[in-house]
Amino acid sequence: MDFIDLKKQQELIRKNIDNSISKVLNHGQYILGPEVRELENELSLFSKSKYVLCCSSGTDALLLGLISLGLNPNEGVIVPSFTFASTAEAVCMLGGIPFFSDVNIDTFNISENSILNCIAKAKKKGITLKGIISVGLFGQPCDIDNIIEIANANKLWVLDDAAQSFGSGYKNKISGNLCDISATSFFPAKPLGCYGDGGAFFTNNENYYKIAYSAHLHGMGSNKYEYDRIGMNGRIDTIQAAILIEKLKIFKSELIKRSELAEYYKRQFLDLGTNIKLPKVISGATSSWAQFTIRLPLNCDREDFQIKMKEKGIPTAIYYPIPIHCQKPYKKFPISSDNLQNTNLLSKCVISLPMHAYLSFEDIEYISKVAHEIINN
Ligand SMILES: Cc1ncc(COP(=O)(O)O)c(C=O)c1O
Repeated sequence: MDFIDLKKQQELIRKNIDNSISKVLNHGQYILGPEVRELENELSLFSKSKYVLCCSSGTDALLLGLISLGLNPNEGVIVPSFTFASTAEAVCMLGGIPFFSDVNIDTFNISENSILNCIAKAKKKGITLKGIISVGLFGQPCDIDNIIEIANANKLWVLDDAAQSFGSGYKNKISGNLCDISATSFFPAKPLGCYGDGGAFFTNNENYYKIAYSAHLHGMGSNKYEYDRIGMNGRIDTIQAAILIEKLKIFKSELIKRSELAEYYKRQFLDLGTNIKLPKVISGATSSWAQFTIRLPLNCDREDFQIKMKEKGIPTAIYYPIPIHCQKPYKKFPISSDNLQNTNLLSKCVISLPMHAYLSFEDIEYISKVAHEIINN
């Protein structure tokens, strides 16, 4: 059993992928070929976001977002600590100050109360805050309307890190179109992944798009070799765009399948009378189920659980064992006055089980039964 099975999906669409790669090899426009614009148009239709810019990775999409929003050195950005490094890293790359916030214990997403604590503490410390990066961790979007309300009241922008949650839903909207700017990743293991690195930037604001477009081409101005700003090499490869066009065609049906599988997981565990804490999706939202992450009872030895699962042929993963604010390069940055209690706790007890659109119901029955037995023995 694979943790994320990319082979089964490839078998299904291999012919189409081979054809689209061949087309690129035939036309030879490896950089910014027509597939890049075609993918951007398709993503715009999918997300209903007016402007989409495909780029080199999810990390670079975040960076392009922050460049568009005009983040300057020493300006603060509230970010959750329970996330992948890129969320905070992008802020630091521009000389900004990540201000670490806690998350909600049952959704794993940034806590509104903790954001308010960060804002109060920043005022006391004289740190100028400019924005909030929300992260749809494990696939579920944040309760973003509440975050936008806090942001508006405090003159902050909101950038959504939808690297894991792209394709999820929130109040009849699709993630990628929930706030000022969204960023996603096409890393192979993501719900919509390519066969290398890739990412995308989404906005409804033409000015933000224009800045990001220029920045991803080294800050190019209206003519080639004339620069308006300091930028980066942030382009997506044409071959990756061609692969993504094929993958996007089956993405919606894969999202439905992931939702069914997540519901089946939950039902299996509940039928077993589990003392495992199951992932909670907020009302009005759907998850892309990038991960199916559970919380083990506090008296359960997670390493031992992981070894025993492996012995039974079940791969698991721990996202994330060390919160970002506890990591060497990030320890110097400020944290919320609540001391990130949920983040510290979650990093000790979460574990992710196999999840992908081609998992079978039998696999889930087996995984949940084995997990339950290990915990209760
Ligand atoms: C929450 C989050 N943000 C950003 C990224 C960065 O994406 P990439 O690996 O494409 O740079 C990831 C990827 O793992 C992620 O999970």
